[in-house]
Amino acid sequence: MSGRWYKEAVVYCIQVDMFADSDGDGCGDLPGLIGRLDYLSRLGVSCLWLNPVHPSPQRDQGYDVSDYYNVDPRIGDLGDFAELTFQASERGIRIIIDLVVNHTSDQHPWFRSARSSRTSPYRDWYIWSEQEPADRRQGIVFPGEQTETWSWDEEAGEWFFHRFYDFQPDLNWSNPAVRAEIRKVMSFWLQMGVSGFRIDAAPFVLELVNAGQPTTLDFSILDDWRQNVQWRSGEAILLCEANVGPGEIDKYTGSTAEGPNDRAHMLFSFLLNARLWLALARKSAEPIIESLSALPPLQDMAQWASFLRNHDELDLSRLTDEQRSDVFKAFAPKPDMQLYGRGIRRRLAPMLGGNRRRIELAYSLQFSMPGTPVLRYGEEIGMGDDLSLPGRDAIRTPMQWDDGPSGGFSTAVDPLVAPVTMTGAYGARRVNVRALQRDPDSLLRWFEQLISTVRECPEIGVGTWSVLDVPSVPAVLVHRFDAPEGSMVLLHNLGDAPVVVDIGPQEGTDRPWEMFADGPYRRPTAQLRRLELNGLGYRWIRLRHGRSM
Ligand code: NOJ
Repeated sequence: MSGRWYKEAVVYCIQVDMFADSDGDGCGDLPGLIGRLDYLSRLGVSCLWLNPVHPSPQRDQGYDVSDYYNVDPRIGDLGDFAELTFQASERGIRIIIDLVVNHTSDQHPWFRSARSSRTSPYRDWYIWSEQEPADRRQGIVFPGEQTETWSWDEEAGEWFFHRFYDFQPDLNWSNPAVRAEIRKVMSFWLQMGVSGFRIDAAPFVLELVNAGQPTTLDFSILDDWRQNVQWRSGEAILLCEANVGPGEIDKYTGSTAEGPNDRAHMLFSFLLNARLWLALARKSAEPIIESLSALPPLQDMAQWASFLRNHDELDLSRLTDEQRSDVFKAFAPKPDMQLYGRGIRRRLAPMLGGNRRRIELAYSLQFSMPGTPVLRYGEEIGMGDDLSLPGRDAIRTPMQWDDGPSGGFSTAVDPLVAPVTMTGAYGARRVNVRALQRDPDSLLRWFEQLISTVRECPEIGVGTWSVLDVPSVPAVLVHRFDAPEGSMVLLHNLGDAPVVVDIGPQEGTDRPWEMFADGPYRRPTAQLRRLELNGLGYRWIRLRHGRSM
């Protein structure tokens, strides 16, 4: 086991049913994914995050689980899963899975039993109210698709609470039996070889809901998980999906002035995500600089997970109306590109007009942000979205492997789990793995270089960072990482015009070395003054290398 592996990892998110179909039934599966591990190994990613793999009625793409101790028969069986963890580890790739335990599917046997009778042993595993809750239309997560958070259940003869859709009843986390069962679920998957969990909807799991009473957050759930997970598997991590304010972060990581990180190891950096998009929209480094300065420092083992796009809408709810409208104007000007009034249901390449230099700049920025980068499948080839599909399905189309029927995703043509985008600027006829592999200058080859560079420069994942002051060029972000492993300075020009940046004297420079850049630049000298930067350019310059060569 390598220490703190997650701090030097590159995470790749896969929806198994959309990735590769091995048996021609039109649905991606675990053997299909196993067959693509060498592709992923060459891409250089070191950890796969699998969206829910459990049996599910699939009314929320698997985020409605009906059995925590199995895999969805559409994608294989537990034997296939064990083979996946084995084959991945052979290639030095770890697997983490989504753990969706704020709620179950309403088809889960626990809920079916719970609703059937007040004396069911599972009744108290969910949250009920005899009276109609006054706030039942509050706290909606999916406006337009969800109208209430308490629904009447005819069979149960009571109201039940569901933070998300009405087919996703919330588990009652006040109940010790629920806590014990989910501990068992986690232990089970650790035994199956996973290296951790993405904790779906973490703030809602911690929220203890009681009809008519104010909700409270119980962080002892995270304490308990961390203890359990770490005793079972020293390397396992918890990665929380928690879109919370800066003041809350420490509670999730369990880092205080008195003690180190003893809750979640990682948190997605939602705080940075929307600001990165605002910066790209305004062609100004300022939103990133502000956001980095306000980012709470993480202590000890805790780590950010950076991302640009995930499987959900790009959530801009943390921006002001004016900021959000700037991002909409730049990247989602049509109403059908927007979702829930707060977000964007597009993939990155079409948001950036397919402009290769903008795509490189965006991902160079993300991969150089403090923390561990997370990349969604298909982004490395510049896949697009399908706005004819409803809601978030627009960004959940099958992986495009080649230009054949069904884009090489499946030998079946119809029915498929979701339509493959075949035509248009982002369709599989043009944008597919095989075509990009043949082209030495392709986006895919560029991603391989980006990923290998970030893995060669662990100071980005583990180091302390600072933003350098370059007041005369507002479009340029210059930041620096320092760690025993080395020191780096990184420059990004969000503007279209070339600039020359004076970054001032830098300590610890002996022979600066360009590790990665958007094009050839004059070799940096030890003085490092007056660095050139193309419009939309980026440079990753290593000042010092702390590891023996
Ligand atoms: C967050 C997931 O990312 C999203 O896809 C899902 O719909 C909700 N949680 C409910 O599980």
